[in-house]
This record gives sequence, structure tokens and C-alpha cells, in this order.
Amino acid sequence: MKRVDDFRLRFGKREIVPIMIGGMGVDISTAELALEAARLGGIGHISDAMLPTVTDRLYDTDFVKTKLKQYKYNLENSDKTDIKFDLGHIAESTRLHIGKTMEAKRGEGMVFLNCMEKLTMNAPRETLKVRLHEALSAGIDGITLAAGLHLGSFTLMEDHPRFRDAKLGIIVSSLRALQLFLRKNIKTNRLPDYIVVEGPLAGGHLGFGMDWAEYDLRTIVNEIHQYLRDEKIDIPVIPAGGIFTGSDATAFLEEGAAAVQVATRFTVTTECGLPADVLQEYFRASENDIEVNGVSPTGYPMRMLKNSPAIGSGIRPGCESYGYILDANGKCSYIDSYNREVALHPDEKKISVMDKTCLCTHMRNFKLWTCGHYTYKLKDTSHKLADGSYQPLSAEHVFKDYQFSTDNKVALPPQK
Ligand SMILES: Cc1cc2nc3c(=O)[nH]c(=O)nc-3n(C[C@H](O)[C@H](O)[C@H](O)COP(=O)(O)O)c2cc1C
Repeated sequence: MKRVDDFRLRFGKREIVPIMIGGMGVDISTAELALEAARLGGIGHISDAMLPTVTDRLYDTDFVKTKLKQYKYNLENSDKTDIKFDLGHIAESTRLHIGKTMEAKRGEGMVFLNCMEKLTMNAPRETLKVRLHEALSAGIDGITLAAGLHLGSFTLMEDHPRFRDAKLGIIVSSLRALQLFLRKNIKTNRLPDYIVVEGPLAGGHLGFGMDWAEYDLRTIVNEIHQYLRDEKIDIPVIPAGGIFTGSDATAFLEEGAAAVQVATRFTVTTECGLPADVLQEYFRASENDIEVNGVSPTGYPMRMLKNSPAIGSGIRPGCESYGYILDANGKCSYIDSYNREVALHPDEKKISVMDKTCLCTHMRNFKLWTCGHYTYKLKDTSHKLADGSYQPLSAEHVFKDYQFSTDNKVALPPQK
């Protein structure tokens, strides 16, 4: 019987264990987690979501404080269009996080960046260009273009000396999205090095509407394989979303996938960035505790635990400190919802906003618990301890379970 370890992802002469840990913002897929994947011969992602605040926390910079000082005058203003990012700060934080991660890399695997393109930062083109260029300059092995698939991103990187040497991939959720991307990028004369096909059971933002349940990963992957064969285009295809066991992964590899991208099982590892108490929420969740809703101001549906403190929170928009979701016109739908509720309840100190959430503040503070569909199975992957909590896993344990397990089994860790 085959297992994941019988397969390899090939990039030129390089052979990689075909397990890719997906990007999880904001710093849920930490450098530690990505470095473990690389050490074990696979691929890990760090995320470039909100890097100035991430580096403040990790490396003691003060980008957020500086920004807040600059825009403090605007705190009471319901209009946030004035708030802009300092491109120098974005560059510095990107260089710092990626530079330090790449310096620490060991092993035969790779570390990629998950670029959350939907963070439009009140100047989509300019800020994205800086993020992508600095990532390449800081030596990242590859970049995965995610959420919001910016059709012009390859063009933005075209003049960088590493444009043809770094691995560049895209995440799509339909054949149509792939075709659109390939058509738009013909003039760069450079195909993506890999295509992550993300189905409707993934965590984070979904590339589907609220009718996500009508789609199926395997069907989309098959359509994309067929199209690539017909067009004689040779690009590794990497399915993602709901691949929970080594056997699930092996089935996709046997059907022609080059690797798999997985994330949910790593949310309960000590290397992942979730605080210890939040990690227990992921373990404890039952199927009924998970929903796909529309509270993200990005406009994409998002899967999350229903008891996430972010849902219904009426916190003041944090744009003076953050402001990553501000679109090209300095707008965010949470600001509109917040202003509406304030106008409706002028005398109330604390308001609730149900239809949207302040994504920046809540993701930054780990108050929005986004998760994959099979989060409710995590409790079966570890031991319940005497105090009712679950034993967190090591990333190595989960990685090797994917790599070597068979028969739909999930190996439990040695009991502590
Ligand atoms: C907690 C969490 C956060 C995520 N955040 C992001 C993200 O910031 N960007 C992204 O492209 N995908 C994100 N994802 C999706 C994963 O990278 C991955 O493609 C998907 O979850 C794989 O499916 P699985 O979780 O069922 O293994 C996230 C997933 C989880 C579980």
C-alpha cells in the first residue's frame, strides 16, 4: 500500500517531500512551523499578512506605535481615507521577518511566503509591489499568491532579478480562475511553478460564495488536470482543503497531484502561533461549533468557530494602527457597519456589530478563530488530559503522520 513518502514533488533537480503547510495569517503559520516543514524536507509557509505588527511582536520594532502617533488625530473620525502606509516600514518589516526566517532555515525543504493579496492597504499596487519585491530580495524560496488573486502580480515582480528563479505559485478555486490568470500573464512569458487548488473545506477565506457546499475539491482538481493535459501545460497541481490523513493525501498523489497543501492539523501544534488557550478551542470544537459566514470585510466567506470573540464585537475600527483592509479608496465595509451602529445607538457606550468584523484588530489579537471544516476531528488526533484539556502536538509528529501513515489512520503522540 502506498503512502505519501513514496512520492516526491520535483522542482527541477530538487526533490521535496510532497507536503506543504499552507499559510495562515496573522502569524498562525509562524516561522517556527515553516522551518520545521523545511527541516523535514517539505515546504512551509510564513504569511505576509500585517507584517509590521508581527515584527513589532517578534523583533521589538515599533511600526504600529509610530503609525498610531502619526494618525492619532483621526481616531474619532468616521472617515479613514487619510490613513496610508509608510512604504519604507512595509519594506523593513518584510525584510526583517523573511530575512531572519531564511537565515534560520535548515534541511532540504523550502520556505514560501503566503501573500495575502486582499490586503489592499489603501494603495493596492504600491504596497503589494513593495511586499513582493522585498520578499524576493530577502531570499524567500517561493511566493504563493493567495486570497484576492491579483492578476497583475507577476507583472509587478517582472523587473526583480529573482523573478525567474524564485518559485511562484497561485491559489485558485476553479478552472476559470486559473484560465483567467494564465491568459492575463501570457506577456510575462512565465508560467506559475505550481498551482494550489483550494476546495471549499479549507480554513481562512474561501474562493467560493455562500454556496460553497455545492463544490467538491476532487472535481475541481480533475477539471484542472484535464485542462492542463489538453493544453500540454506542465505545472504541478497541489490540492488543499480537507485533506486530513496521510491516506487522503496519498489518494490525491496517486491521482496525479504533485503534493498536497494542509493546514488544519497543524493548528494544534506547539509551533503554530495560536495562543495556548485558543489552541484548546480548536481541539474542543464540535461540528456544530463551526460556520462559514460573511463577517469578513474582504467580501469573501470565511470559516470560523462560532464562539470567536470577533463575531458581534463592536470594537472601534483600528485603522490608525492597522488599516490593512482599506481598499484603493480608503474604505472598509466594517467601518460602514460600525458607523451605522453608532448612529443607531448614540447613547450606548458599547455597541455590537453583527454583519461585519474588524478583521485587522481581531486577527492581530487572535480573537477571530478561522479554521478548516475538519477542525472537529482534531480531538481524535491527540490525548485528552486529566484536566480536560488536550495535549498539543509537535509539528514533526503531524508532518510524519501525513508522510508515513496508511489505512486512514492518525497516529497519536507519545502520551506526556
Ligand atoms: C487557521 C487558518 C488560517 C488560514 N489563513 C490563510 C491565509 O492567511 N491565507 C491563505 O491563503 N490561506 C489560509 N488558510 C488556508 C490554508 O493555507 C490551507 O490552504 C487550507 O486550510 C488547507 O486545508 P485544511 O486546513 O483542511 O488542511 C488558513 C487556514 C487555517 C486553518
